[in-house]
Amino acid sequence: MQSLTLRATLHHHQRRALLKASRRGGKGGRTMVVVSSSMASSFPSSRTTGPSKSSSSSFFPSSSIGVSQRRALLTKATFYPKSSSSSSSSSSSSSSSSSAARKVSARAESSSSSSSLSTFAPEAETSTTRRTRLKRVLSGVQPTGSIHLGNYFGAIKNYVKLQDEHDAYYCVVDLHAITAGGHSPKELEESTRKSAAIYLAAGVSPDKASVFVQSHVAAHSELCWLLNCVSPIGWLEKMIQFKEKARKQGEDVSVGLLDYPVLMAADILLYNADLVPVGEDQRQHLELTRDIAGRFNNLYGGNKWKKRGKNEKSPSGRYRGKDVLIVPEAFTPKSGGRVMSLTDGSAKMSKSNPAEGSRINVLDSPDVIAQKIKRCKTDAVEGMSYDDERPEAKNLLTMYELCTGMSREEVLNECASMRWGEFKPALTEVVVNHLKPIQERYEEIMSEEGYLDSVLEQGAVRANEVAEKTCADVRDAMGFVHRKSRYPSM
Ligand code: TYM
Repeated sequence: MQSLTLRATLHHHQRRALLKASRRGGKGGRTMVVVSSSMASSFPSSRTTGPSKSSSSSFFPSSSIGVSQRRALLTKATFYPKSSSSSSSSSSSSSSSSSAARKVSARAESSSSSSSLSTFAPEAETSTTRRTRLKRVLSGVQPTGSIHLGNYFGAIKNYVKLQDEHDAYYCVVDLHAITAGGHSPKELEESTRKSAAIYLAAGVSPDKASVFVQSHVAAHSELCWLLNCVSPIGWLEKMIQFKEKARKQGEDVSVGLLDYPVLMAADILLYNADLVPVGEDQRQHLELTRDIAGRFNNLYGGNKWKKRGKNEKSPSGRYRGKDVLIVPEAFTPKSGGRVMSLTDGSAKMSKSNPAEGSRINVLDSPDVIAQKIKRCKTDAVEGMSYDDERPEAKNLLTMYELCTGMSREEVLNECASMRWGEFKPALTEVVVNHLKPIQERYEEIMSEEGYLDSVLEQGAVRANEVAEKTCADVRDAMGFVHRKSRYPSM
């Protein structure tokens, strides 16, 4: 049995190569991927509560190594680390003298060294690499207000789940956060950093996923503009979220708010995302993204694209003649896709609700959580049930289920006979216990100067590399003149 040691210093290209090798292991003797014991651990979840399942496979776990240690590792794994890749490849080979291990190391090294930071030199993506590449995931949360249990269970928890088996990109969508108009610059800055720290505290690993700030990748704004010009205004006017918000804002409603879904489409399409983890409220925006991608491909893809260039290949190195943009799928959890308000079981939990008591924020203290649950809306029925006629009971039982990781049946076995007076303290306990390790890691991350910035910088570099390629293909397909210095070979 061959043994490869995964090191936290590996760049995700290298990790991908190692994972592929481990999957192919069956053919020539089994290959086992071993997580180095100094890295392997799980979150300190002593009870059934806490995000233990999703995080146990994390090999950048904050509980086993301190933030400073992680930061040191992260700094070592500098962007496209020629030097660190060679050191990691030598350590891989030393941990196993097998030729398979050496091949993997060599592939990992060549893939990392083919990336370039300072100049845009597109790495050719052939039809084979496209077919075999890991599925890609992209998602984001707006840095407005506080991240609540709806954002966490509807989206962020799935970021953590999906990062193990996917090429993951998670951004804080600060450009979206200003679409409501009249934002506070100070709050935007604070909330952007806070949101990124919550991703990490919840278990998103910078070693598995690229975590970045949307405005750090200029291609989001550029692609939004290009897509604006293929998106009929009627499609945007039909968006439920636009209609609801526009109704509240009256004449002050900004062009940005109408354009919000096109920017979201740009976020997704830039990364050729296959999957987009979102709550149910975003499914309509995902449908629109699919429509925009389809329309773009019809207008400029396929044979029309093929005829655009003298060379067979596009600026990013893909063959012209296919779809320019990949049509994505939404990934919505069965439980948690729509967490409801504490004060009205028929309305979704939302950051924009002026009633603070309507939501539980991920960073709320135990006392605040207890107060909010104590005051939440109930009904006059005895006992607890997942009954559509009892939206509050159904919502709070679902919350119990999500915080404990129990099945519906298990929750009912435990709680069906409880009265509200008994259920509320039990719910408080599981919510507090679930959020405790996240809050502790959040504090650790925020207190470590420079750590968050280095993660965001690394994420932006990786994201820019992918986004620039897609944008270059889109410009190419639409007929924009190539800038010579950018594509010397064209
Ligand atoms: P935002 O910040 O409003 O919401 C972030 C994520 O949280 C989900 N969500 C919920 N899920 C379950 N129950 C709730 N009560 C609840 N409230 C919110 C949202 O569905 C979302 O997944 N438009 C996006 C931000 C965005 C985006 C993107 C997402 C911009 N570009 C590209 C994915 C891909 C939004 O709703 O943010």
